[in-house]
Amino acid sequence: MPQIYSKITGTGSALPERATTNQALADELALRNIETSDEWIRTRTGIEKRYLAERGLTTTKLAERAARSALWDAGTDPSEIDLIVVATTTPDMIFPSTACQLQKLLGCSKGAAFDLQAVCAGFVYAITNADALIRTGVYKKALVVGVDVMSRIVDWDDRSTCVLFGDGAGAVILEASDEPGVLASRLSADGTLDEKVLGCTGFIAGGESHGDPFVRMDGQQVFRMAVGSMSESARAVLEDAHLSVEEVDCYVPHQANLRIMQKVAQKIGIPEEKMVVTVNRHGNTSAASVPLALDNAARHNDIKKGDVVLMQAVGAGMAWGSVLVKWTKENQ
Ligand code: ACO
Repeated sequence: MPQIYSKITGTGSALPERATTNQALADELALRNIETSDEWIRTRTGIEKRYLAERGLTTTKLAERAARSALWDAGTDPSEIDLIVVATTTPDMIFPSTACQLQKLLGCSKGAAFDLQAVCAGFVYAITNADALIRTGVYKKALVVGVDVMSRIVDWDDRSTCVLFGDGAGAVILEASDEPGVLASRLSADGTLDEKVLGCTGFIAGGESHGDPFVRMDGQQVFRMAVGSMSESARAVLEDAHLSVEEVDCYVPHQANLRIMQKVAQKIGIPEEKMVVTVNRHGNTSAASVPLALDNAARHNDIKKGDVVLMQAVGAGMAWGSVLVKWTKENQ
């Protein structure tokens, strides 16, 4: 039996209509006596604006828009998709899963569909799972989506978190192939770095909501942990693929904070010119951050056929991971 691999054949992304600049956000918060500034947000995080979902724009609708764009890019009809994996922390409902709702909207009813919850690391977990399922030989064409509407679970009275996040979706089509696209991946987690570091502890039981429905974070601990885990994970995945860091052509890190991204790039020895940056325009879109950045890079020709691409993400759990892919497609 020849070895089965998987490769990316299409990318897509979607954002809400409206961009909110730091200044517009600061003006809005000032009306409630919450003080922040464009200067504070920009210098601490690199964020200049973010897109916030308008009323009625659901997680599933954003996912559908990104999915249709990826399907078009791959020249794939929805009926060919036999696996849907959606990474999200902000589903529209507890169940059915976002993946099943998406399957219905796309009109592709064959195969498997499920959600995966690894918060900001969701997309690297999802693509690793889809790759493993394709390698079994059972699934041929997967739609892998990262989508989050974080604005729903952000406390707009907490300036230490509300300025960081944005909403969006990104998607890839992953197909069975006899040449390797996904070269290696590494997933990790440390549950001792629990909700006291980063969490949203609210839940529903007995017909009532309990706990805290908003994101809470120890920013400095997240910062330190993100830098350490991402640098270590990059080294491990490169070792697994027998590649040197110089062989990475394009670096797509989780877009949480420009300072974290720059520190990790420096630690692992990737020049900043190879790093894709969208956090300035999108903010932290959680599970959508890596596929959104990947799609942006592909569309701007920052990734070319033959390139080695390193994707990385880290988030609550804490959970993190890295995926190395060889870009085998021509960009549209
Ligand atoms: N505007 C103005 N002042 C603010 C704001 C704000 N939006 N938020 C906090 N401050 C104030 C604080 O109250 C504090 O004031 P004080 O000194 O009077 O007490 C001061 O700014 C400094 O606060 P710190 O928390 O020490 O600021 P720091 O330099 O650590 O930056 C930040 C905070 C940007 C959150 C940083 O810790 C960080 O980026 N951490 C990583 C967090 C992250 O990326 N989370 C995303 C989710 S997890 C993930 O995706 C990896």
